[in-house]
Amino acid sequence: MNYLMGIDIGTSGTKTIVINENGQLKASAFVEHKLDCPKPGWAQQNPQEWWNAAVESIKQVLKNGHLKGSDIKGIGLSGQMHGLVLIDDKFNILMPAILWCDQRTAKECEEINEKIGIDKLNEYTCNPALTGFTAPKILWVRKHLPKIYKKIYKILLPKDYIRFKLTGVFASEVSDASGTLLFDVKNRKWSKEMLNALDIDKNKLPKVYESPVISGYITSAIAKETGLLEKTPVVGGGGDQAAGAIGNGIVKPGIISVTIGTSGVVFAHTDKIKMDKLQRVHSFCHAVPEKWHIMGVMLSAGGSFQWFKNNLGNNLKYDILTKEAQKIPVGSEGLIFLPYLMGERTPHKDPYAKGVFFGITMRHTKAHFTRSILEGVTYGLRDSLEIIRGMNLKIKQIRASGGGAKSKFWRQIQADVFNSEIVTINISEGPAFGVALLAGVGVKIYKSVEEACEKTIRITSHTYPIKNNVQKYEEYYKLYNSLYPALKDKFSSRL
Ligand code: XUL
Repeated sequence: MNYLMGIDIGTSGTKTIVINENGQLKASAFVEHKLDCPKPGWAQQNPQEWWNAAVESIKQVLKNGHLKGSDIKGIGLSGQMHGLVLIDDKFNILMPAILWCDQRTAKECEEINEKIGIDKLNEYTCNPALTGFTAPKILWVRKHLPKIYKKIYKILLPKDYIRFKLTGVFASEVSDASGTLLFDVKNRKWSKEMLNALDIDKNKLPKVYESPVISGYITSAIAKETGLLEKTPVVGGGGDQAAGAIGNGIVKPGIISVTIGTSGVVFAHTDKIKMDKLQRVHSFCHAVPEKWHIMGVMLSAGGSFQWFKNNLGNNLKYDILTKEAQKIPVGSEGLIFLPYLMGERTPHKDPYAKGVFFGITMRHTKAHFTRSILEGVTYGLRDSLEIIRGMNLKIKQIRASGGGAKSKFWRQIQADVFNSEIVTINISEGPAFGVALLAGVGVKIYKSVEEACEKTIRITSHTYPIKNNVQKYEEYYKLYNSLYPALKDKFSSRL
């Protein structure tokens, strides 16, 4: 039997899985990472910790699956997108990686807009300057840490740092490169115009591949350290959202996914590049060769629930909290949560936005707060869904995935708030599964990404909207949508 490995460098931890060519899970391991928030709005991690987690999880899956290195025919890498990893010419890490949800670069985004102009930016990259993206982070380091900036030898994305450690090769692939704001998404290559305008040396960037293409091979030193076989191929892989979409079978128009992890993402495949006129959703290359995708990204979806659980929910288990919340009526008796704990990308593009509980009364209990968090996050996801609906993309099916899809209760809230059937699939390994399939394409076990998905993914559950709830949520969604505009100016006050 042929086996494939997928490694996903997530925000909360690194997950490594091994599947067989039928898509069945052979073994899985998860090693946590710490998130460092040294100032409000800052989010960073030490890439060394990712590497330790990658090595540890690779060893664990080989051991738990009773696998030899030679059983693994190919490896795919996925990771949190947009993060800035800087290394010097001795390959040392120069500073903590600045992450996708870090908001320190509002000024740099303004500078990029002024220097290049919003229209040109759109022409060069198909996207706006957002604090989460990589280019403004590079400018921030140049301005605030010039000594470090001078020492930069390579600029890498999180999973591409792990690729370098595994293979000794500096490489990336189109889906992750799309989120740097230095990439010509239409033509699937680094943008000369952006690099010139921002004065960034192309030699500092890695070579870019299509996602299923082999980018390098496991080195002998790493083979010894991990138990993998020397020369095992490592394919391009994907940014976690594109990779997760492959793992959800989002490889043709009409099927979209709603993924609730730390972030919350509504993802649609497009055969040609498509852009929202107001640039509220991202337009990126898909991990399917020569295809694209759009996605709306909320910064604190599962992250809001995690924050609540840890800080106000007595650290109770998620299923205990959701069980309590099920007793509360639809709409949480007027308690509305705005999930902007780390600012927001879609739909507001506002690094200063903040979380809000609106409408608290003496009647509200912890269970109301829990329910309002689940509802508020779902309203936020509906914002992305409405933008996608407004772009005339037909939506035939919504697939729920990520931690948020595990709860039947939260899936019902999604079906009711979206007024749409929600399905789940047999795969819950998300991005790690997606890149294992990409590895299978790279080593020719599957003919194409589409074939890999067809052979391995099927629908396992349906959740239908309840008419009565849909009507109630329609009203609450209107109220939710009126709150951000009313508070927008207050969010940006620096008190
Ligand atoms: C996507 C995004 C997040 C991260 C973290 O644009 O910023 O989904 O990739 O998972």
